[in-house]
Amino acid sequence: MAQDDLKRIAAHRAVDLVESGMVLGLGTGSTAVHALDRLGELIRRGVLRDIVGIPTSKKTEAHARSVGIPLTDLNANPVVDLSIDGADEVDPHLNLVKGRGGSLLREKMIEGASRRFVVIVDETKMVNRLGGSGLAVPVEVIPFGWNFTMGKLRRLFDHVEGFDLKLRTEAGDEKAPSVTDNSNYVVDLFFENGIRGDLEEISDAILKIVGVVEHGMFLGLATSVIIARKDGGVTVMK
Ligand code: 5RP
Repeated sequence: MAQDDLKRIAAHRAVDLVESGMVLGLGTGSTAVHALDRLGELIRRGVLRDIVGIPTSKKTEAHARSVGIPLTDLNANPVVDLSIDGADEVDPHLNLVKGRGGSLLREKMIEGASRRFVVIVDETKMVNRLGGSGLAVPVEVIPFGWNFTMGKLRRLFDHVEGFDLKLRTEAGDEKAPSVTDNSNYVVDLFFENGIRGDLEEISDAILKIVGVVEHGMFLGLATSVIIARKDGGVTVMK
């Protein structure tokens, strides 16, 4: 089965959990798009009523509007019933790496405000250790003094074998920093051997650096993970 079909299977399974009247957190990325499309379809058919969604990015906001999902924000709805979003990595304890799409800050705010946060992935996203797939662990930083902040991050992980970091740039233009929806930059951290040690302590140490806004480790936030397997079946981790 193609990877995109697996993403759709996981997304549709998550949308089965949505009930009329819910406030939803709307995720960002190629898996979350399938959830938006399905939600839009069910709203248009009148199967789901009085749904409002809080988008985790400007891209999601535009897509949600295009498929007819009514929108609100965290100020009007500080408690979210259910968030549905993809992830870059999921470990056996339901900890995640998110933010390859650069939306980690709004995602963490909205998903952290959710009674339930259901993660939708295909099985390629499962790892034994966060950082273990070789993909970036993103850190959103303010543009002012970004190189200074990046130096602090470098020093924090200096002792870690196989560690590297890089300012994220626009595809095709190494000189143009990638800018988030919050007008910030992203520094990508790479851990060749995955992140070793106490994740909460590592999270605290990153957040203590002045200039860091947020990082892409989502620890203890997911309430369940829907994994679409290559054989077409689905596994749910809680
Ligand atoms: C965006 C994210 C995405 O959820 C994550 O990158 C997964 O994306 P995709 O479903 O396209 O693989 O965190 O910031």
